[in-house]
Amino acid sequence: MNALNRRNFLKVAGAASAGTVLGPRIHALAAMQNEPAKTFGPNDHIQIALIGAGWQGQGDTGVAVDVPGVKLVAVADCYDGRLAHSKELWGSDVFTSRDYKEVLARKDVDAIIVGTPDHWHKQVSVDAMKAGKDVYCEKPMIHLYTDGPEMIETAKKTNRILQVGSQRVSSLIYAKAKQLLASGAIGQLNMIQARWDRNSTLGAWSYTIPLDASPETCDWSRFLGTAPKIPFNPEHFFQWRKWKAYGSGVAGDLFVHLFSGTHFITGSHGPQRGMATGGLRFWKDGRDAPDVMLGLFDYKEGFNLALRVNFVDGGEESEGLVFTGSEGTMEIGGNFVSVNRVPRETEPGLAIGSYTFDMQKKITEEYNKKYPHKYPESEPAAGFEKYVAPEGYADRYDHFKNFFASVRSRQPVVEDAVFGYRAAGAALLSNLSMEKEAVIHWDPEAMKIL
Ligand SMILES: NC(=O)c1ccc[n+]([C@@H]2O[C@H](COP(=O)([O-])OP(=O)(O)OC[C@H]3O[C@@H](n4cnc5c(N)ncnc54)[C@H](O)[C@@H]3O)[C@@H](O)[C@H]2O)c1
Repeated sequence: MNALNRRNFLKVAGAASAGTVLGPRIHALAAMQNEPAKTFGPNDHIQIALIGAGWQGQGDTGVAVDVPGVKLVAVADCYDGRLAHSKELWGSDVFTSRDYKEVLARKDVDAIIVGTPDHWHKQVSVDAMKAGKDVYCEKPMIHLYTDGPEMIETAKKTNRILQVGSQRVSSLIYAKAKQLLASGAIGQLNMIQARWDRNSTLGAWSYTIPLDASPETCDWSRFLGTAPKIPFNPEHFFQWRKWKAYGSGVAGDLFVHLFSGTHFITGSHGPQRGMATGGLRFWKDGRDAPDVMLGLFDYKEGFNLALRVNFVDGGEESEGLVFTGSEGTMEIGGNFVSVNRVPRETEPGLAIGSYTFDMQKKITEEYNKKYPHKYPESEPAAGFEKYVAPEGYADRYDHFKNFFASVRSRQPVVEDAVFGYRAAGAALLSNLSMEKEAVIHWDPEAMKIL
């Protein structure tokens, strides 16, 4: 990360030669997504099951079965309507059940996708690995800090592949950003600011509740699991992110993506300390999770991370990260990474206008001796580069492709349980900090709160 060398940057700044880098430049990133599909015989298929067939679970599965050699055979969910829709989507021969243990007991399932609310991630993943299945677990990997070590330990003991679903770490945009930072494109990294701003009802987690939601169609006690027992509540069932008993607030929902991206791009294992503030400002609809959160984190590598999530933005919805270095900034937006490079000055400049004319003359003479022929000089050349993903590029596809490649090769995944715990563990420091109104210290190597 600290190999700061302008020449290196020019080398990686695209196929263009160093001489053509200056000025606005846009490069198309090459995607491998439409490479010719390998053909697999019926016996070579990885057979998967989906546990938690809501928005993300169904979306994940749709992408996963697009990867050549992957077939869906079973689905578990607590709402009958989603089991029925799974059959509509993937065929009536797909086995469905309200009880995920019935799915795990099936010999024809090699791997599962966990798309449940956060409070079920650990238990479903652990049960699946113990049943011999590989696991793609949605982010945030943990709901409680005790979940992390148990998931890491179980993956090790059972020798199962576990990949966490922060798909951006498989994105070609993030790979480019990592390469640019390592090449010194923005000099020494000093600060990262990342944001997720929303201004809509759906953005604030008020998802539509189906008309037939009832204790008959929803397996309420299975949904609750270890959460406090309360009477059936369709808001809690379908809009669970609003309550800490099932979700992890904006920290677990959105900060975690920003941590995953930061850790992947910088290679860091996490912050040493963090603090957060915020509150419930606008969506006073019975939820107990804040709709505004601001977090500050210190990294031993010598940079600070500032995160902002808000569901109350009066402006446009947007998300992104800005890396600020000693020689420029690097920005990641929806489908691009760009570098605005402002090389450091080679001489300090003069601020002498308030001194006597005689003093100004003397200082200027001294200065010109020290920096011959250089003052006044024009600003050092700046460079702007933008790298754009091809239209329709889906990082989720690459993330599943990486997962299934590891399932076949038994080689490590890009986002294993340790990576997942380091990202989610860091993100959830924000909730702790808000609760305790304190700075929380974290050991990112040992993955422990201090
Ligand atoms: N990677 C991403 O970009 C991304 C995006 C959205 C959501 N997610 C994650 O995906 C997960 C699911 O989110 P969602 O928006 O799809 O939620 P959702 O409410 O739409 O779906 C969750 C489903 O899990 C089911 N479920 C609950 N308990 C279960 C159990 N014990 N066994 C089987 N099924 C159970 C529910 O019935 C529901 O249908 C969350 O952890 C979320 O953080 C990730």
